[in-house]
Amino acid sequence: MLQDRDRIFTNLYGLQDIGLTGARARGDWDGTKAIMEKGQDWIINEMKESGLRGRGGAGFSTGMKWSFMPKQEGERPHYLVVNADEGEPGTCKDREIMRHDPHKLVEGCLLASFAIRAHTCYIYIRGEFYREAEALQSAIDEAYAAGLIGKNACGSGWDFDLYVHRGMGAYVCGEETALINSLEGKKGQPRLKPPFPAGVGLYGCPTTVNNVESIAVAPTILRRGASWFAGLGRPKNSGTKLFCISGHVNTPCNVEEEMGIPLKELLEKHCGGVRGGWDNLLAVIPGGSSVPMMPKSVCDTVLMDFDSLREVGSGLGTAAVIVMDKSTDVIQAINRLAKFYTHESCGQCTPCREGTGWMARVLDRIAHGKAAVEEIDMLFEVSKQIEGHTICALGDAAAWPIQGLIRHFRPLIEARILGQSAQAAE
Ligand code: NAI
Ligand code: SF4
Repeated sequence: MLQDRDRIFTNLYGLQDIGLTGARARGDWDGTKAIMEKGQDWIINEMKESGLRGRGGAGFSTGMKWSFMPKQEGERPHYLVVNADEGEPGTCKDREIMRHDPHKLVEGCLLASFAIRAHTCYIYIRGEFYREAEALQSAIDEAYAAGLIGKNACGSGWDFDLYVHRGMGAYVCGEETALINSLEGKKGQPRLKPPFPAGVGLYGCPTTVNNVESIAVAPTILRRGASWFAGLGRPKNSGTKLFCISGHVNTPCNVEEEMGIPLKELLEKHCGGVRGGWDNLLAVIPGGSSVPMMPKSVCDTVLMDFDSLREVGSGLGTAAVIVMDKSTDVIQAINRLAKFYTHESCGQCTPCREGTGWMARVLDRIAHGKAAVEEIDMLFEVSKQIEGHTICALGDAAAWPIQGLIRHFRPLIEARILGQSAQAAE
């Protein structure tokens, strides 16, 4: 359980001043120049030692990602791009950071850009985040006025410019290469990787793309030290994490907790538990809509971190915890997600373009009891043909929830098709 002294986001709910004065009172912008004076190698090494894994969903080591950038500023400029296109269903954590603690992100942008030798950073923010873009721009303006960014940022000798770029509402633009294309003014479609952005990114230049939360926690890690962050959570799953908890709990919320907290404790401590009590729980999607759901039997004991959730066949993803009690029609819930992925597919590769629509149509017939039992295996097989065979992770994201449904709720699906009651499936 996280102690208050280890909390990074102390203004997550916006109860205090979100401006520079409030941010400074909370410790932001304290000793930023001294951190920069320790040099790029020290910063990158400290981030590696902290064990921070990317908070956008994939969980790739942040320090490692920064270390992929060229060690010298060559002819091609370096860029930092912050992915603030938070679109994963159930996820609303980056929104809170930008609304209520924007200076943490602005300071993080400076330190990360300095570490990867970038003089320019773009924050690509989801178009619907209008107020968040305003709060962010106001924090940027304050930072420029105070000499914290701009020419000779914080008196460090490093010139640094920061821009907010608003997206236009496409989910796939949250994929890092689609985001880069969009930023360049092109159609927001993912590129094949490799090359990774560290080699060929924005305008063909070395680029690091990081999630808002990953960048916003960096200044605190560098101030308090890698060993402090690494001492929280579990090995290879260190630190604190913002969880967004929605669905059938008594009080849905966003909360910062220690990585590895048991799911049951997370829900009971912060959300007043599952509506109707723990025994009324049916299933949980633990990491945003792209990861498979877990039935109650798994939820009873599972820990909330990357490796624990992977071991039980799911994932931490964005840590958006979607709770479903026994009143939920899980087939319809996954059917709804299947429609979402069909709508958001960019249509570039065949398995995703054709497969997402096909899966959604079959699932829709299943949900309405109009399919044949044999189609369950066919649906699973088709989802396996999509998984791993597409340009970006949207194909996997469409396949995994369906696989999770079939794996854990097959008797319920069969009962729906055969016109039996849900109780008959238990
Ligand atoms: P990924 O595993 O392909 O990449 C993760 C990061 O590591 C990328 O920045 C990539 O460039 C870098 N990377 C990986 N291998 C590398 C290598 N060998 N060399 C250099 N860099 C390397 O995952 P991806 O596609 O970036 O993210 C997928 C995740 O995004 C999903 O698991 C999902 O949970 C999450 N997601 C989050 C959303 C949100 O709103 N935050 C929306 C949709 C999905
Ligand atoms: Fe586009 Fe889907 Fe292919 Fe991703 S997997 S590039 S969203 S068609």
